[in-house]
Amino acid sequence: MVSKKLEKEINGQVNKEMYSAYLYMAMSAHANARGLKGISRWFMVQYHEEMVHAMKFYEYLQDQGNDVVLGAIEKPEGSFTTAMSLYEAALKHERFITGSINDLVDIAIAEKDHASKAFLDWYVTEQVEEEQNDTEIIQTLKMIGDNTAALYLYDKELAARMVTVPTDFSGGVSAAMKGK
Ligand code: FEO
Repeated sequence: MVSKKLEKEINGQVNKEMYSAYLYMAMSAHANARGLKGISRWFMVQYHEEMVHAMKFYEYLQDQGNDVVLGAIEKPEGSFTTAMSLYEAALKHERFITGSINDLVDIAIAEKDHASKAFLDWYVTEQVEEEQNDTEIIQTLKMIGDNTAALYLYDKELAARMVTVPTDFSGGVSAAMKGK
């Protein structure tokens, strides 16, 4: 069992991951509305990844015999008119999530909760990849600049991103991930 303090913070993190999914769902719609079909797809793939992040926390609380307490998910804000503005906002959000994960790790360390520390290590590694993905796309978009033909081709490239995580959690996220 994890401490009541960590339980509260992990429940909060479930909410943040669900918000992340909701934010990327909104970003997918913004991209779609501007004809950026590949980027729209990319963000929907990201939506699925965030659902896994949320579900892993949810399941961890249950595995530890703690309480899952779900809160309201905030409305995703932002009006994104360019591919660059979408990915800059995504990177800013991921940096916020990285900070939040680090705060959870700090609590686990302070409480000498080795199981939670080991569990959270997966997220620490995952966040490096999350930030790297956005950073690399921003670098490419900078090179593209105002070149709409290049953006058209890059959008097609981003459309190749596939869902590699489970999307059916009815048997539990851990079991679903083992099946992948
Ligand atoms: Fe769940 Fe994108 O961090």
